[in-house]
Amino acid sequence: MAAIKVHDKSFGIYLSEEKILQRVKEIATTISKDYAGRRPLFIAILNGSFMFAADLFKHLTIEAELCFIKLASYKGLKSSGNVVTSIGLEDDLFGKEVIIVEDIVDTGKTLHNFLPKLHHQQPKSLKIATLLHKSEATEYPLELNYVGFDIPNKFVVGYGLDYDGLGRNLKEIYQLI
Ligand code: IMP
Repeated sequence: MAAIKVHDKSFGIYLSEEKILQRVKEIATTISKDYAGRRPLFIAILNGSFMFAADLFKHLTIEAELCFIKLASYKGLKSSGNVVTSIGLEDDLFGKEVIIVEDIVDTGKTLHNFLPKLHHQQPKSLKIATLLHKSEATEYPLELNYVGFDIPNKFVVGYGLDYDGLGRNLKEIYQLI
């Protein structure tokens, strides 16, 4: 197994570039069929999803829009829970066919906290596409409409995903050894 080091940790190859791209193309084909004539708006969540979003978007065969947003969580002054706000969401989502693009859904907390804010704008439809899903780690169940790979509950880097800021440029996905 080809091992690499990111910071202090060793990772072994888990998904090859070829395997990732083949699966991303399959998802693009499925979405192109499902959304034929509907012109969806893809909302990709930074930073991790930039590579998946780019490859997915370039293999679509339908008209579609794309925007990138960043989520920021902070402790609300009055509420005790984490509040999620988005930076960069300029479009009005009313009546739009929205597809969220995520790199990985782990516990589901991030999207669980963010989805109500999107629903509030009354999009016509709201679906989720995630490249990776750690289904064993689920704490906040979500309906995931397009999933690239269901993976074990182990830390991964590469293809946009980072370990403490590094590893995003790797073409493959590596798993913590
Ligand atoms: P969730 O809120 O627990 O679903 O976590 C989602 C976010 O955690 C992702 O968008 C990633 O930024 C990060 N994350 C979760 N697991 C991993 C991993 O294995 N590698 C890199 N980032 C991860």
